[in-house]
Amino acid sequence: MKFFVDIADVEEIKKAIELGVCDGVTTNPTLVMKSGKSQEEAVKEIAKALGDRPLSVEGISDDAEGIVKEAEEFVKWGKNIVIKVPMTKEGMRAVVMLSKKGIKTNVTLVFSPSQALIAAKAGATYVSPFVGRLDDISEDGMQLVRDMLQIFRNYGLETEVIVASVRHPEHVVEAAKAGAHIATVPPKVLEQLWHHPLTDKGIKTFKEHYEQTKKWD
Ligand code: E4P
Repeated sequence: MKFFVDIADVEEIKKAIELGVCDGVTTNPTLVMKSGKSQEEAVKEIAKALGDRPLSVEGISDDAEGIVKEAEEFVKWGKNIVIKVPMTKEGMRAVVMLSKKGIKTNVTLVFSPSQALIAAKAGATYVSPFVGRLDDISEDGMQLVRDMLQIFRNYGLETEVIVASVRHPEHVVEAAKAGAHIATVPPKVLEQLWHHPLTDKGIKTFKEHYEQTKKWD
């Protein structure tokens, strides 16, 4: 499974690249705002740091023509830009238009299997089910992921599933078990994936025993 990092902070992205856990990045207007930079400045900086890895960028237009116009500007900011498109009728019209132009898309704010199927039929490169936001309203976010994957498999659809709105390590593990192509993970959750108290305890014990044997030199 590929890991994308769900952040617009280039320093966090560089750290994830060094650790081998960054196959791409997803941003949204909230994440860009948190970076304290303009969308253009943040995106250009991240695009450069990523090299060929994909970077999802989101605009604010509601109508298809507006989404396409924004997309044509965003793709000038890097060779790896993917356009995030909201799951609306106008959004899907934009996905059809962008696919014809060879511009990659990530259909965002997906909350049902039928939305995912429609996005894939429109030609989306990626679809992003927001599992955490579904869990927040007492629905089962991961069941949506399983349903989408089954539908895509049934018909050999090439659209890749990015499990988004990831809140904790278990979301990542469940996404991997379901066979999701990608999980986009905030740095805080990435950090949690590394740790286990028994690893720390084991390292400490082995060090103590090594010191003991050194006394016997
Ligand atoms: C994904 O592309 C989104 O940027 C993100 O995962 C949304 O997560 P949130 O529900 O924590 O805002």
